[in-house]
Amino acid sequence: MKTTSTMAGGSYGTKIADLYIVHNLAAVGGNSRHTYHVMPPVGWMNDPNGFHEAFGKYHLFYQFYPYAPSWASMHWGHYTTEDFVKWKLEPTALAPDGKDDCDGCYSGSSVVKDGKLYLVYTSVAAGKQTQSLAVSSDGVRFEKLGVIISGDQLPEGCLKTDFRDPKVFKRGRYYYLLAGGMSEAGEGMLLLYRSLNLIDWEFVNVLRKDGLTTRGIYECPDFFELGGTDVMLASPQGYRTDDWRYENEQSSVYMLGKLDEKKGVFEKDYEDEIDGGFDFYAPQTLKTKDGRIVMIAWMQMWHRLFPTAKHGWAGAMILPRELSVKDGKLYQSPVREIERYRWNPVRFENVTLGSRNELTKVNGTKIELCFSLDLGTAKRVGVKLYQSGEHDARIYYDREKDRVIFDRSRMGVEITHDAEEKDAAVRSVWVSTKDNRLDMRIFLDVSSCEVFLNGGERTMTGNVYSEGGGVSFFAEGGNAKLITLDKYDIVV
Ligand code: FRU
Repeated sequence: MKTTSTMAGGSYGTKIADLYIVHNLAAVGGNSRHTYHVMPPVGWMNDPNGFHEAFGKYHLFYQFYPYAPSWASMHWGHYTTEDFVKWKLEPTALAPDGKDDCDGCYSGSSVVKDGKLYLVYTSVAAGKQTQSLAVSSDGVRFEKLGVIISGDQLPEGCLKTDFRDPKVFKRGRYYYLLAGGMSEAGEGMLLLYRSLNLIDWEFVNVLRKDGLTTRGIYECPDFFELGGTDVMLASPQGYRTDDWRYENEQSSVYMLGKLDEKKGVFEKDYEDEIDGGFDFYAPQTLKTKDGRIVMIAWMQMWHRLFPTAKHGWAGAMILPRELSVKDGKLYQSPVREIERYRWNPVRFENVTLGSRNELTKVNGTKIELCFSLDLGTAKRVGVKLYQSGEHDARIYYDREKDRVIFDRSRMGVEITHDAEEKDAAVRSVWVSTKDNRLDMRIFLDVSSCEVFLNGGERTMTGNVYSEGGGVSFFAEGGNAKLITLDKYDIVV
């Protein structure tokens, strides 16, 4: 008997999941639900999966466990969007109800071939991880086609228990598949396969192998071309901290360079952390109809407290970002479509900030703030967000440290973390402050904060769980100037 048929409106597992969602939507709540970020309708969300354009819209699948706000046996939830801001919930795409994926349908990607949408995902059963395929001709219901790469196709010395998160892309005649792997010695690896038909795959090469700089595998690789540069993304577990970089227990990195797909060699020119905040993981990209590369990522981090779980949900996605390469580095800016949702613009110019002058005339928790600072003589200059009484989250430039700091230690909720992480309360990044200037663009959405510094040279993303909606611009230890401030409500 074929237990995984999805022909008539979904497999057994996806139907149960969808019934559960409908009956439990009302039980999800609390005051941290976002308004313009993707969240699970109920239960748990982690990595974005299969982010792709197909059938005239953008599809976002995600790691989903409907039955509790915690990670368990993974399904693929599904949303679609036309503009990356408003999202439509679709029926659950995959459930762990097959013999090869009875322990989970883990992360993966999607690809369009001959007018059909194929999902390529990691199937987990009895501790073994294999790569599997599912297909849809309407973009709604998926039929599983079974395992396409098993552990027997791993190079010598690789673990069959850690082989996952396939990203498929096309170059020339071939489809290529990039997956994370791990050697028996515990080295994280990136593995490249190729195929002409998505069914039969041959191993090409190990694209990257780390001499134990990771404490685990490279999760969720991604690959795309951007203005003549090849870009690889990956999320290594336990990457070593390097000064202010890679301070989370798991990091997300980008590598710019050139892929020789025939030899399976990636010549790397530059590598860096993608986001310097707390909550950013497992990014994936798609190419839009008008040729932009748009990235989405999980706006959370492993091994921490998830305060929203008591209200029946956990996990969300970042506001998708457009990527570009400038001066040999990756730049990020929020999708331009968000600007259609700006309301009630307010502008301030040339406001002096100092010990007696805070600008407190704007507020809100679903807002965009765009501002330019003249750093003046101040020791610290920036903005307090989600403020109420003594609670707030702060984004500011610290002259002595020469860093931009995201400090959520006063938000009133302590995010507990495990021993591998120094703290989950303060992060910092270096950005250029040429001419004593700093530009910031900040998006708040009820319990999230995404910061774009100097036109996307660096970003910092973090969740903030605070009751307050106050905003104040401040300078300490000297004066500074808010050259311009534009504030908008974001209303969807
Ligand atoms: C990354 C990850 C992936 C895996 C998935 C399981 O966050 O651990 O490697 O496929 O989550 O949900």
